[in-house]
Amino acid sequence: MAKPINLHDFRALAQRRLPKIAFDFIDGGADDELGMLRNREAFSSHQLLPRYLVDVTKRDQTVELFGRQYSSPIGISPTGMAGLFRTGADAMLAAAAKKANVPFLLSSASNLKIEEAARIAPDNVWFQMYVTSDPHINHDLVKRAKEANVGVLVITVDVPVNSNRERNRRNGFTRPFRMTPAIMLDALTKPSWVIEYLKAGGMPMMSNWQPYAKPGASADEVADMYGTLTPAPMTSWETIAAIRAQWTGPLVIKGLLHPDDATQAVSIGAQGIIVSNHGARQLDNVPSPLTMLPAIKAAVGDRVTLMLDSGVRRGSDVVVAKCLGAQSCIFGRPTLYAVAALGQDGADQALAIMHKEIDAVLTQIGCGEFNKLDSRYLQTPR
Ligand code: FNR
Repeated sequence: MAKPINLHDFRALAQRRLPKIAFDFIDGGADDELGMLRNREAFSSHQLLPRYLVDVTKRDQTVELFGRQYSSPIGISPTGMAGLFRTGADAMLAAAAKKANVPFLLSSASNLKIEEAARIAPDNVWFQMYVTSDPHINHDLVKRAKEANVGVLVITVDVPVNSNRERNRRNGFTRPFRMTPAIMLDALTKPSWVIEYLKAGGMPMMSNWQPYAKPGASADEVADMYGTLTPAPMTSWETIAAIRAQWTGPLVIKGLLHPDDATQAVSIGAQGIIVSNHGARQLDNVPSPLTMLPAIKAAVGDRVTLMLDSGVRRGSDVVVAKCLGAQSCIFGRPTLYAVAALGQDGADQALAIMHKEIDAVLTQIGCGEFNKLDSRYLQTPR
């Protein structure tokens, strides 16, 4: 394939470079993987209704989120262990976000330390945190985010349990990891990935968790420790309220689908909600975030900034979501495929493609200002 022209193209390019076990870890969903299809279908169940003979020589897709201007209503969803797919992927994604001036949500399961990511892109890095079963560690992670001057804290709440991802189980992507002949044979068909992986010293470190492990702990030992601390099924609204009390900046809750949960998030003092089903990687039989967005918008109104992820692949998806109430959209797999396939250039290209597509859609539908989009630009067949 020549140069990628849309986000789907990065998937095919990543599949060429990554061993199956790694590609499937990104690509897969839970159970029967029907939720992933539902996430995509939700966007095509709405159509954009263009208005013509409007002067659209000037277009503006800048958005303000939590007091900061971004150049585009998009951002990079948090994805853990990105360094497994491309050495230094987190730093590349942070640099791409800085260049495009969009948010990069650094996963707490990243291979780059929060402090380093914030140094690379101080205005663009948000920190995504999984609450652990250890309140001292939770407190320390929030403290570190604060000391690193991270602008926005995101707490992901849709992982009360590790989900059933059958591709990972069949491929042997489970902990403790055991190298089998089948995995080795598969990896040998992707030599460029193997060489880079070995050069980097094998399994990358979950750097944010290193300080909580015993001195000199290996990447495997740190990952095992992380596995004992998360998921934390005892996490409740009280836990979030305690973090709210500690964190003085904007707080965003990621992974809500129910309007009542959204209302609850507002009442504990969250400023933002990412309506998300985790890319259908947690619960398979779950509505798409786009389907739930209108009810959530009706419940919270303008009291909170709504964002959305799961299945966003086109500029027109971002426009549809805005018409239904989401100020911006983020995406996880596409940027991960892009960086896995083409490194820094891939991450840059993925964001540039989305910017261009949004611009083209705004022009085509006769609404030059992204912020002026509303349901009048949508046709939703019953
Ligand atoms: C994720 N996601 C995720 N979410 C989160 O809050 N913290 C994390 O560490 C991760 N890790 C992660 C790894 C990988 C490989 C993937 C693909 C996803 C979920 C992610 O943030 C986002 O919600 C989904 O990826 C959105 O769906 P799409 O855009 O991938 O369809």
